[in-house]
Amino acid sequence: MKRNLILLFSLISCELYAQTFTVQSPDKMITLSARLANNGTASYEVAYKNKEVIERSTMGFVLKDPNITLNRFSLVTTDTSTYDKSWKPVWGEYSTIRDQHTELRLHLKNKGEPDIQTIIVFRVFNEGVGIRYEFPDQEKLDHFVVGDEQTEFNLTGDHKTFWIPGDYDTNEYMYNTTRLSEVDAGSGAMSQEIHAKTFFNKNAVQTPLMMKSSGGLYINIHEAALLNYPAMNLVIDKTSFTLTSHLVPDAVGNKAYLQTPAKTPWRTIIVSDKATDIIAANRMILNLNEPSTVKDPSFITPQKYVGIWWEMHVGKSSWDYAGGQVGSQQQSRVPHGATTANTKKYIDFASKHGFKGVLVEGWNTGWEDWFGKWKEDVFDFVTPYPDYNVKELSRYGASKGVKIIMHHETSGAVTNYERWMDTAYKFMRDHGMNAVKSGYVGRIIPRGEHHDGQWMVRHYERVAKKTGSYRISVNMHESVRLTGLHRTYPNWIASEAARGNEFNAWSTGNPPEHETILPFTRLMGGPMDYTPGIFQIKLNVYDVIKKEQVHTTLAKQLALYITMYSPIQMAADLPENYEKHMDAFQFIKDVAVDWGDTKVLAAEPGDYLVIARKAKGKPTWFIGAITDEQKRNTDVSFSFLDKGKNYVATIYGDAADAHWEKNPQSYSINKFIVNSTMTLNLALAEGGGAAISIMPATANELKTLKNYR
Ligand code: NOJ
Ligand code: CA
Repeated sequence: MKRNLILLFSLISCELYAQTFTVQSPDKMITLSARLANNGTASYEVAYKNKEVIERSTMGFVLKDPNITLNRFSLVTTDTSTYDKSWKPVWGEYSTIRDQHTELRLHLKNKGEPDIQTIIVFRVFNEGVGIRYEFPDQEKLDHFVVGDEQTEFNLTGDHKTFWIPGDYDTNEYMYNTTRLSEVDAGSGAMSQEIHAKTFFNKNAVQTPLMMKSSGGLYINIHEAALLNYPAMNLVIDKTSFTLTSHLVPDAVGNKAYLQTPAKTPWRTIIVSDKATDIIAANRMILNLNEPSTVKDPSFITPQKYVGIWWEMHVGKSSWDYAGGQVGSQQQSRVPHGATTANTKKYIDFASKHGFKGVLVEGWNTGWEDWFGKWKEDVFDFVTPYPDYNVKELSRYGASKGVKIIMHHETSGAVTNYERWMDTAYKFMRDHGMNAVKSGYVGRIIPRGEHHDGQWMVRHYERVAKKTGSYRISVNMHESVRLTGLHRTYPNWIASEAARGNEFNAWSTGNPPEHETILPFTRLMGGPMDYTPGIFQIKLNVYDVIKKEQVHTTLAKQLALYITMYSPIQMAADLPENYEKHMDAFQFIKDVAVDWGDTKVLAAEPGDYLVIARKAKGKPTWFIGAITDEQKRNTDVSFSFLDKGKNYVATIYGDAADAHWEKNPQSYSINKFIVNSTMTLNLALAEGGGAAISIMPATANELKTLKNYR
């Protein structure tokens, strides 16, 4: 690092003797100024295009052991440096990612005794700012307990906010859209159908937190590289619009146990006057994570998969052998889903249509009594039910080019899972499996720990490392929200960690705007296993008394494969439902899951989103466009296509009479010749969407298909 290569370093006295250190983003649009006041208070502020984004906000720590508050500092020295390098993710939305930033490090020491050294690090990117604390190796601080972190984000006004309640255990809430002053996490937290939730403050919200100022600035606050530390919630002061960090506690109320040298995760502030830039800026969060630790990532396969899953959620079959555990409110017994015969049916379907994986839930003993009791020994992860033949299915799958995706529901009994992990992963390896979906439904054991606390954050990392050592990819449900760690652990291929499509099967569901918010919130930290692709949208076909439906049109379900980024995508519906709509199913068969490039074409959180992605290493593009409960028209310019080339665009859209509630399965499919000079007008129905595949045109297609307009 080059010491004191300072882009803009000034000692401006705004307060008497205050020291101010100013750093700008490489493109000079963002200015961060850090300040050490005369009394030792450390603070920062952020401006974008000369407009305040974060007003002066203080920083500090309350330690419990040693019992000391770190909020009065004196300056030891500063370093600044610039960085500009590109790297290639194992999988992702882009084949190459540029990391260009300026870094300022303030080396501070505590005013008074004991003499504790803290470094506050600021990285300023074109997209936003990352801030972290470091506690270097030092004489007066070795082991220490964090009582809380006191990082403020002092906003300039009463912004419009897309929020879910602050919680120590769950992020499966519906989003609320209100001003900061109107946040009422109390009522938000109570009204939902979630098994383990620990709500703590009616003014608290979770990150990624998406906001929009009345001046049209989009601001996103989250964190990057959450390791060995609890997740951060934010508590809103409704008069000053200051958000303050609130870390998830452990069973005895402590926040984190650290030993020097130690680092906190990065606190991230992303800002732009364009909503489309916010989504593209999720790369900043990746840039704040360490490079991949997986030496040979060849076992990690982005893929589409099907599975014995939705049929339980809609109440057609059960997880348990006796047939009592169904997803819906339906009381009658239904057949066990995970049988050898049923799995073979899914393997046949997968192999016929080019899917590489079949997820099977309910294959192992324990589902008769699996949650709600906070008990330790539920599943052993290696004992199948008598009607499920693991060996035979591995053999059968292999003969058809399909692998079974393992399912490890821990029911929150994490100590039990830790005891079984090696045995369970060996069992998978012995049976030719290399991908597992895990889950943490219910309250955590060790009792008193939380899903988002330091203990569990360490557990998720242990799972990522251990599965990696067995050459297994893992997709975690009910885990902590993601913070870009898939750069470091690319075999941690996705998480749920938000309210997925499954809620539509057995609850009030997800309103049509839900999927227009998630890319600005949960997905900022990494891929979500949302499980799109439901074609049978009204669920009373499974049980006449069932009133639930997915809040979508069929075409919107296709668009989600693009707008809801993940390197693993489920085709979540039942084979028989796809067989009724093979023409629309073709899009799911064609769509890529690993991308060379991504262009966010249009976006407004809570309203609409249009994204185009180019398949990695291929000349094909896919577009997804979605809307909330409002119908709308959107123009899609094809200017990103190679100039002078002709392509076939297949447009899977809402038919003229489509409507998420009245006529959700009404779609149309049209094919045209398109090129880079054309602009397509798409009509999206209420709760609808459109999906487009764009492939180079063959000579025959050029003869037989019409140009678009
Ligand atoms: C919740 C998960 O999100 C869901 O996908 C799974 O089917 C159930 N838990 C059972 O493990
Ligand atoms: Ca879940």
